[in-house]
Amino acid sequence: MIIGVLSQKGGVGKTTIAVNLAATFAKSGLRVLLVDADPQGSALQWSAAREAEPLFSVVGMPKPSLHRDLPDIANDYQVVIIDGAPRVNELGRAAIMASDEVLIPVQPSPYDIWAAAETVKLIQEAQQFKPSLRGSFVINRKIAKTAIGRDVTEALASFEGIPVLPTALHQRVIYAESAGQGLSVLEVDPRCEAAREVAALAKLLGVKNEKKGKAA
Ligand SMILES: Nc1ncnc2c1ncn2[C@@H]1O[C@H](COP(=O)(O)OP(=O)(O)O)[C@@H](O)[C@H]1O
Ligand SMILES: [Mg+2]
Repeated sequence: MIIGVLSQKGGVGKTTIAVNLAATFAKSGLRVLLVDADPQGSALQWSAAREAEPLFSVVGMPKPSLHRDLPDIANDYQVVIIDGAPRVNELGRAAIMASDEVLIPVQPSPYDIWAAAETVKLIQEAQQFKPSLRGSFVINRKIAKTAIGRDVTEALASFEGIPVLPTALHQRVIYAESAGQGLSVLEVDPRCEAAREVAALAKLLGVKNEKKGKAA
């Protein structure tokens, strides 16, 4: 299964979610590849900052041909996560076409909600060629008990066919702190709230351990 964490907007949490999902799947015993499709190379930097043993492989593929190149490579893995590039439509399109499932991180802010329309449009265009492609929103940096935290779900409901996932990631300093050491939140503290919410998100994605024929 290929999961694209994609948005045409920068700073929404693509890299944060991509590395933490990859770590969660890897810790559950799956063979995971993280593809850094952003020319900025943040996922590669995360991997370079890491002194611990790698949990999964990270490769840089910021190419408009990603959807053609990835299937062969993906065969060797049970789950592939793409950390997408903002702004460049050719890269966004290729990453969407390469994915089975697209996760669009959205922060509870009007700017993110407005920007979501651009990514949704690319998904809808891609669905013409690939009807099996699914997209969903994941709220990131939610601040508990705020009106904007609730309003964002309502605002995103206007995008038909792209549901808002019932698990949100909250604003937590551990996401930034762990990244500095090339670690996932799960490795810093497996019982922390951040690790729990990432695990809940991973579960929603329903990745199957195909070799053993059971859910991860
Ligand atoms: N849930 C969160 N809580 C706190 N900080 C976060 C969270 N998600 C992302 N960040 C921080 O926000 C910034 C942008 O996130 P990043 O994952 O790099 O976004 P993108 O890849 O979409 O540009 C980073 O500094 C990251 O550490
Ligand atoms: Mg990034």
